[in-house]
Amino acid sequence: MTNKSTKIIAVANHKGGCGKTTTVVHLAAELADLGHKVLVIDLDPQANASLHIGLRHPSEVETTSAELLLGDLSLLSDALQEETNFKNVSLIYGSLTLGKTEDQLKDDAPRPSEELSNKLELLKGLYDFILIDCPPSLKLLTSNALAASTHVMVPIESGSQYGLYGVTDLINHLSKIRRVNPELKLLGALLIKHDERQNVCKLIRDEALSQVGELLKTTIPMSTKVNQAAILQQPLLGVDKNSKVRKAFQDLAKEIINRVE
Ligand SMILES: Nc1ncnc2c1ncn2[C@@H]1O[C@H](COP(=O)(O)OP(=O)(O)O)[C@@H](O)[C@H]1O
Ligand SMILES: [Mg+2]
Repeated sequence: MTNKSTKIIAVANHKGGCGKTTTVVHLAAELADLGHKVLVIDLDPQANASLHIGLRHPSEVETTSAELLLGDLSLLSDALQEETNFKNVSLIYGSLTLGKTEDQLKDDAPRPSEELSNKLELLKGLYDFILIDCPPSLKLLTSNALAASTHVMVPIESGSQYGLYGVTDLINHLSKIRRVNPELKLLGALLIKHDERQNVCKLIRDEALSQVGELLKTTIPMSTKVNQAAILQQPLLGVDKNSKVRKAFQDLAKEIINRVE
């Protein structure tokens, strides 16, 4: 794959705890392991992806996505950190101050939802994939991610009967965003903590397909390795490369590569 056409994938769902950050972190690791150059952009004030991938604590980082969103293009090179815990994965850190960024964008930016998109123009061609970890809301940070992206995927917690709560709001939001970003493609729902033997998971799968309209073939099983990897700040391939959950993220990376080419 030539990286002339950088694919920018937003991982979005305003429901908290559905697996957005986990998906971004391990999809990034597996895409990189398959030979692609990857950048992760953390847009969540909780900065969990940064805590996992980053060498530094987000609170010590001067130029995070918050400063980048509000500032000008010259901040891009400071914001971009090429050294991380993951090989071939660069990071633009998130930080707590992102909480205030939303209000400042609304008040000061000429096009509040297109600030990220403007800045990423310069990175096109430098990376094969840019993955954006979205916060648990549908407000301006998520709009910025979606306006800047070529693709969007929606993690859904499969074992939970409330896993699909609010997902139609997200789908409606996508049609609004397409007015500024008509190219945005929906990769589909990604079932997290999925177990095909359980009836509740099968129900959620069918519902996810009908509500989201697209389903990724790969599903991610539940595994304690996920928390282990976060504690150790490692990719799953560094924790247990033969585990089922690692293989699932590797399959997901392959599926995504096939879908976006
Ligand atoms: N496949 C999985 N198996 C077990 N635990 C998981 C799995 N995916 C995510 N988790 C855990 O669920 C919690 C929420 O996941 P996270 O990715 O942080 O969600 P979000 O970013 O959407 O809030 C985290 O504690 C994470 O470690
Ligand atoms: Mg998260």
